[in-house]
Amino acid sequence: MDHQIRIAGSDLQFACAPGQTLLDAALRAGIELPYSCRKGVCGNCAAPVTAGEVREPVAPDLPPGQHLLCQCQPLGDVTIAPSSWRRADPSARKVLTAKVFRNTLAAPDVSLLQLRLPAGQRARFVAGQSLQVLLPDGSRRSYSMANPPHESDSLQLHVRHVPGGAFTTLVQQLQPGATLQVELPYGSATLDPAASGPLWCVAGGTGFAPIKSLLDDMARKGSTRPVTLLWGGRTAASLYLPAAVERWQRLWPQLRYVPAVEDAADAQAAGCFHGRVDVALRAHAPDSLADAEVYCCGAPPMVAAVRQACAERGLPPARFHSDAFVSGPAA
Ligand code: FES
Repeated sequence: MDHQIRIAGSDLQFACAPGQTLLDAALRAGIELPYSCRKGVCGNCAAPVTAGEVREPVAPDLPPGQHLLCQCQPLGDVTIAPSSWRRADPSARKVLTAKVFRNTLAAPDVSLLQLRLPAGQRARFVAGQSLQVLLPDGSRRSYSMANPPHESDSLQLHVRHVPGGAFTTLVQQLQPGATLQVELPYGSATLDPAASGPLWCVAGGTGFAPIKSLLDDMARKGSTRPVTLLWGGRTAASLYLPAAVERWQRLWPQLRYVPAVEDAADAQAAGCFHGRVDVALRAHAPDSLADAEVYCCGAPPMVAAVRQACAERGLPPARFHSDAFVSGPAA
């Protein structure tokens, strides 16, 4: 029997079928909640269950009352209190056949893959969203779009090479003219269009991709928002697209850029902040982030560290948007 799931503070209600997780049921009903990996790793979907009981297969390290909505199933009617939600149109998601236009190395371990869509077809997405690549073995891999939404006849992906990874092997062999099936859009890590306070964009490695989409989009719209971009990597070469940053700095004088490099010698030679990107955030952010909005993308531990640093400075949870990369098949 289906259970009814309510979102606290709203009149929204949706059904959750037996065996379904709360997140799957919400997405199927066209309600976008914060999430990223859907594998119980990133913690992005954590939310209080304010009424009713749930079963959760793993015991996550979360504050009392919080549950991973991508993992838990209701045992009856339940009320949840996610930090944000919005209605989405499930029929907007489409499978498209894209052709490789260009495939280059942006860094020794990062492929920059440019795809073109067939004439007359357009990719419809919001800056910050992602797609899934459909692989020949039936599995899928998630990547964020790095191009802005108005460049809708093409798709740009930044693919970090993972040793032994199925798409890593494939992407290194892709030649111009090859085709890939992709499905989009996915993801809920997008900016609040009504927000106007200072924006902090925090990227780890190829977490730069969705931030590039966001900042290209804002630059095109002539945004005057104060923006700080922190981009962290192990070496200076990990910050693989300096031309994009230089272009924003020319167009957008109020953009502040803080590159953060963990290798001490490299950081000194390149004039970068030495240390992890969350440490750079602590060093450069004001004591209060209460009026800010943060968009953070990278590996789960980095996202967790940045979330913690922002929470300590008073950032409201609903204004922390994140996309945590978990390698392997998309869930
Ligand atoms: S832990 Fe649920 S979406 Fe990542």
